Amino acid sequence: MTLANRYTRLVGIDYPIVQEGLGPFRTPKIAAAVSEAGGLGTVSMPGMPVDIEAGARTFRDHIEECASLTKKPFAVNIPVGVSLSGEVLPFTDSYIRAALEARKQDVQIARQLTVMTTSAGFPGAYIKMIKDAGMIHQHKVGSTRQAVKAEQAGVDVVIAAGFEMGGHTSGKAMHTFVLVPNMTEAVTVPVLLTGGARDGRGLAAALAMGASGVAMGTRFILSVENTDWHPKYLQALLDAKEGDDVAFNGVYGPCRGLRNAASAEFLEAHGRGGSPEEEMRKKLESMQRAQSEGDVENGIVMTGQVASGISSLVRIAEFVPGMAEEALAILRRLASS
Ligand SMILES: Cc1cc2nc3c(=O)[nH]c(=O)nc-3n(C[C@H](O)[C@H](O)[C@H](O)COP(=O)(O)O)c2cc1C
Repeated sequence: MTLANRYTRLVGIDYPIVQEGLGPFRTPKIAAAVSEAGGLGTVSMPGMPVDIEAGARTFRDHIEECASLTKKPFAVNIPVGVSLSGEVLPFTDSYIRAALEARKQDVQIARQLTVMTTSAGFPGAYIKMIKDAGMIHQHKVGSTRQAVKAEQAGVDVVIAAGFEMGGHTSGKAMHTFVLVPNMTEAVTVPVLLTGGARDGRGLAAALAMGASGVAMGTRFILSVENTDWHPKYLQALLDAKEGDDVAFNGVYGPCRGLRNAASAEFLEAHGRGGSPEEEMRKKLESMQRAQSEGDVENGIVMTGQVASGISSLVRIAEFVPGMAEEALAILRRLASS
């Protein structure tokens, strides 16, 4: 018995373990560590600066940094921001094009950056653009209806986002235990579970529900390889207990983070009265501040509920194969009993 399956074969990895997007801050080191360990790491979107071209350059730098740290495949994550009138926001367009451009201009990056993950809004016309570029397209959704729509539009992999997840979650508030079996019954493309996984038990459970793997966030933030994020952010997550998190009004809908002054402000209000795009930028800056400066009281500290079960950092290099081994041992034990 091995954990190799159609998903691992599709993206060319050893274990069905993904580190999903953790924007709006730096993740090239975490991404490279996960890919190097046999999973799939993801370079995250770097926020929404007023100067979008500068943001695209930062994104490109992060892609290049990741490619310099591993020779294995990795992904990028780009949320699809949508205006009130339904148009895709310029930062999304700019980041998708920056990733495609990076592949065009560098053969080595083209070989490694083979997966693009979109989230938040529907990726529409970008689906063809990503496919035509020869990339595998994963799209994160919070409902089975959205999963079916994404599959019909040509997406290769759907990521089932359960309400317990960290960061932006679905307005439908569907938890993974209900959502994943619903979704795996409804689509034929591989499904990854995201939200609440932290070890081999979560991976074995996801596989039992018909998923092809797990996409984690919080577990990988809490790693010794994550030297870019402020230690106070990591400590706040390590200290989090059950009930310390809350879903508030985020940038693209409900967002899960720690209860603090920042999340209290956004629990009721959508913002302080600026344009929707200004409000979006302010919230992304607040998230970035917490990640880079460690302001864990006035900055938005995104985390999954799973932080309540994590009390120490892991070394990704050992953790990823160990998690796969643990899942395999559970599945073997259950099969023989
Ligand atoms: C700090 C943080 C930042 C995140 N940023 C993004 C992002 O930029 N794009 C995205 O699609 N998902 C984002 N997410 C969601 C993760 O990709 C992942 O789906 C989620 O963390 C899974 O739940 P878990 O934390 O329980 O593993 C973020 C999550 C966290 C905790």
